[in-house]
Amino acid sequence: MNDEEYYAFIRPYEDARQMMLTRLDVLNHTLYQATDGHPIHNIQERIKSKSSIEGKLIRKNKEVTVDNAKDYLQDIAGIRVICYFVDDVYNLVSILKQQSDLIMIRERDYIANPKPNGYRSFHLIVGVPVYCLDGMEYFPVEIQFRTLSMDFWASMEHRVSYKKNRDDRERLTEELRNYADMLVKIEKRFEVYNENGKISAEGAAESE
Ligand code: GTP
Ligand code: MG
Repeated sequence: MNDEEYYAFIRPYEDARQMMLTRLDVLNHTLYQATDGHPIHNIQERIKSKSSIEGKLIRKNKEVTVDNAKDYLQDIAGIRVICYFVDDVYNLVSILKQQSDLIMIRERDYIANPKPNGYRSFHLIVGVPVYCLDGMEYFPVEIQFRTLSMDFWASMEHRVSYKKNRDDRERLTEELRNYADMLVKIEKRFEVYNENGKISAEGAAESE
């Protein structure tokens, strides 16, 4: 795969990603509520680099060609949606599932079923219709939904251990697993405070 082939290849994935970003933006402001605020804290995005595509195809024992990238990789376009609360994640996912022009390709709920290392997030691969001169084609976009605390853990874990070899790996894994559990507890406390806050905000409005 040369540079020219790479840039031509990723073009429709960039279009698909852009359209998904706009949809998420629309949801974020239509779901805005005075008491709750916005469901989304921030969104990150990336297109897989040429070298990551090549590396992943090699790991999968596939020849490095544009056709294989298209056939075997579903995370060329990636979006990470960072929410405040777990409920926000499930709410956004269920709304996207009702958008009938999207196709749901794969779903992995690592919130209900965290990875053994403690990783949590909701992964969704959606097919986004891209219309060109010669018709329509679905392009996959991988969307990772997580809360701020899941993002904190995943970002730090990625920095210190993901796909790296270290000699203190076992102890580190155990320690990070404990932090993941602690973060779940902290997140639940914030949920309680958020619910309490809503009740007292409604109470204040009623007694006005
Ligand atoms: P990949 O080949 O890595 O894409 O894995 P997969 O196709 O089995 O998909 P999976 O849903 O397990 O994970 C895809 C992506 O989720 C990764 O590229 C990471 O961005 C993220 N992820 C998955 N597991 C972990 C983890 O243990 N730690 C961190 N930090 N991120 C993870
Ligand atoms: Mg991936």
